[in-house]
Amino acid sequence: MVGGMCDYGIARPGGRFRGSYARAMFSDLPIPVIVAPMAGGPSTPELVAAAANAGAFGFLAGGMLTPEKLVDQIGRTRRLTDGPFGVNLFVPRERVARDMSDYRDRMRSEGQRYGAEPGCAVWDDDNYPAKLDAVVASRIPVVSFTFQMPSATDIARVKKAGSSVVITVATPEEGCQAAALGADAICVQGCDAGGHRGTFTDTGADAAGGELYGVLAALRSLHAELDIPVIAAGGVVNGADVAAVLAAGAVAAQMGSAFLRATESGTSPVYRDALARAGRGTRFTRAFTGRPARGLVNRFISEHSAHAPVAYPQLHHMTKPIRAAATEAGDPEAMSLWAGRTYQLAEEKPAAEIIESLAKQARDALDVARDRL
Ligand SMILES: Cc1cc2nc3c(=O)[nH]c(=O)nc-3n(C[C@H](O)[C@H](O)[C@H](O)COP(=O)(O)O)c2cc1C
Repeated sequence: MVGGMCDYGIARPGGRFRGSYARAMFSDLPIPVIVAPMAGGPSTPELVAAAANAGAFGFLAGGMLTPEKLVDQIGRTRRLTDGPFGVNLFVPRERVARDMSDYRDRMRSEGQRYGAEPGCAVWDDDNYPAKLDAVVASRIPVVSFTFQMPSATDIARVKKAGSSVVITVATPEEGCQAAALGADAICVQGCDAGGHRGTFTDTGADAAGGELYGVLAALRSLHAELDIPVIAAGGVVNGADVAAVLAAGAVAAQMGSAFLRATESGTSPVYRDALARAGRGTRFTRAFTGRPARGLVNRFISEHSAHAPVAYPQLHHMTKPIRAAATEAGDPEAMSLWAGRTYQLAEEKPAAEIIESLAKQARDALDVARDRL
């Protein structure tokens, strides 16, 4: 599978793809840990600044924020740290017409539990153009894109502003496409990851929306093909996992669930509580947003997943008032509680302490592996 996988006809000199600036930026990180962008509340300027100040790297989550709020968060982060940080954006898909009437009926009855009406199932572009303008104007060191590939023009604009471009992918083939388009680095997201899958295609064939790769399989395949840095995400929760992905060729590990309960994260109290009570599994669902995402299994997921159409962001807007009402009522059973498969191993601590423990655990794990070899 690996040989020739990246034959997209756009190879750079030597047939390999280059990304020296992003390589330097991530290889020079004192601690090769990236605090993932987590839209919907968990990402905060405080969390991103804490990561930068602890020698790691953090992304603000631009998805679902207004352009004004994103600019405000960038300013707040800059006041809290002198270190570099990144901003992540959702790249919109084309508008696709869908019949959502059956799902709306389901959501009407679901909403009655919480005294909420389903929202208007509109398509929108998440204010992507205005947020892209904002990151270009703000000259953010690293801009990462998810959900779709940005256009070559957008990539060129971001690079011209001096930023490195990271594109999130879920399969090696998508990684090759992103590299061919000009990404400076790839973030490969394995199927254990919490939150939305960063895949470009959603086949709708199953709840995961397409072919699944574990992080190591995707990472190794890409590492063999590309000469740009690859960041590994998905199920990485302990320093031993960080050591594993570094040994497999990643420039850094991107971690979301490990920081969901960090003191500085904006995770709501009900969400934190659900994460702290071990015992719930996680699964992919399209039920909340119309796009596959991994979250803690709750009643909403169990009852509605099988009926949810492929319709992002329309379902996100339709279910939003219901999720908000459930949060208000303190009921985790109708909230989107995104979490990766290993979320139970994450702890409630200041981000700097989590990062320090990860570095120590990684060194210890490598010592054990070296002795073993
Ligand atoms: C609550 C939550 C929100 C997320 N939001 C985003 C996002 O806005 N943009 C993005 O690229 N990835 C997002 N992700 C995915 C992360 O970038 C990362 O791939 C994932 O957290 C890695 O898996 P882990 O949770 O097992 O560490 C989110 C993940 C979680 C848990």
